[in-house]
Amino acid sequence: MAAIEAPEFNLLDHQLFAQREPWDIFEWLQREAPVYRHPDDADGFWCVTKYDDVLDVLKRAKVFSSQAGGSARIGRVEPDVLEARRNFMETDAPLHNEWRKPFARDFTPKSIARYEDQLRVIVDQVLDEAFEKQDICFVHDIAALIPIRVLGTILGLPPEQFDRFIELGDRMIIDSDPEIAIHVVGSPEAEAFKYLPFGSEAAAELCAMGRQTIDARRGNPKEDVLSILANMEIGGHLLGDRDLDNNFALFVVAGNETTRQSMALGLLALFNDDRAMAEFSQPGAATDQAVDELIRIASPVWHFRRTALEDTEIRGQEIKAGERVVIWFAAANRDAEAFENPHVLDFSRKKDEHLAFGRGGPHYCIGTHLARLEIRVLYEQLFPRLKSIEQTGPERRLVSNFTNGLKHFPVRITAK
Ligand code: HEM
Repeated sequence: MAAIEAPEFNLLDHQLFAQREPWDIFEWLQREAPVYRHPDDADGFWCVTKYDDVLDVLKRAKVFSSQAGGSARIGRVEPDVLEARRNFMETDAPLHNEWRKPFARDFTPKSIARYEDQLRVIVDQVLDEAFEKQDICFVHDIAALIPIRVLGTILGLPPEQFDRFIELGDRMIIDSDPEIAIHVVGSPEAEAFKYLPFGSEAAAELCAMGRQTIDARRGNPKEDVLSILANMEIGGHLLGDRDLDNNFALFVVAGNETTRQSMALGLLALFNDDRAMAEFSQPGAATDQAVDELIRIASPVWHFRRTALEDTEIRGQEIKAGERVVIWFAAANRDAEAFENPHVLDFSRKKDEHLAFGRGGPHYCIGTHLARLEIRVLYEQLFPRLKSIEQTGPERRLVSNFTNGLKHFPVRITAK
């Protein structure tokens, strides 16, 4: 039997993800090394790329901790930095349940439905401006503008703060792309901000903004997410400043770039598949099931991380307590053993099967229904207005191994 040639790759190289979606590497890993020990400048970490194994890690949250080493960074984070920046996504049960429960009721499909009218107004305003320009960047002129406005609304921020909120929110999300981040992660300049939420230079001003509304809502709640944050208790106490800031920042970061990129990558996938475009652009075609398939293909999260709390195994591979396990969501969503023709859009696939939202575990995305609604409404309102839509130049990808997405996507839209 011929020896298997391992491709040369480095999944820590953000530039790799700027050049292309590296499905060839993930396919090799899924076939030859589904639980792969990836080297780094410390003791290396495990890469899990197969659908069943990612689901297994997500489900076994008692063994694979989000709290022990955090979940948002592959590299080992200094313990005091981890503590200073901890939000509820980086907690384990039972603490995680205490945190998540008060918010969960605000993110059910029924709760989310109350924002639909406002969302439709936001989308119409964004589309009106885009159609005036005609030649647009789909990311900047459409996809980036919707999720952050929706977030401002559901958090309960005053509309006069929105413009600044949008700018600061944007500066917090991509920290590995020198064209976007003010200080690239790992640079000496970024070091000064390492104790702030997400290590971001924009965090102090953003959180001060959130705090104004939180202060006003304490003891005087309204129907919004910041009222919950302002008045919830953990361990019998109202939240202190650090918890307020870190968790306000979590909502801003988690709900912004992800949804934007599902919109943008979704359109790119449709451009690359005439049959799917013809099907999806029909009136009534953007059902929840079809939108879910678009999100599978347009998975905006490359990975999250866990830390093993005890010796265990994944697919027979021994994992030692303390080792890092990185689960590659977008790769699992293209696993040919889980999805027939995984690189093809097929709107007849079952809803809720994919892992883009981290299905199966306790950290399953709380914003799932909101994100689906935003994407559905965008396409429901965009397609009927279009005489034509075409890509007018090459797209440019984000320099990030964390967010799968585009930073430039030139498109011409012509109204009917
Ligand atoms: C297409 C859009 C989105 C995608 C693909 C996505 C993806 C994810 C994933 C994979 C996780 C799980 C992380 C883990 O297992 O460690 C997660 C968690 C989370 N997401 Fe989303 N997300 C999206 C939109 C949103 C929106 C719109 C919001 C909020 C308004 C949001 C808020 C959150 C929060 C707060 C968590 C942490 C939940 C917990 O730890 O219990 N996300 N998201």
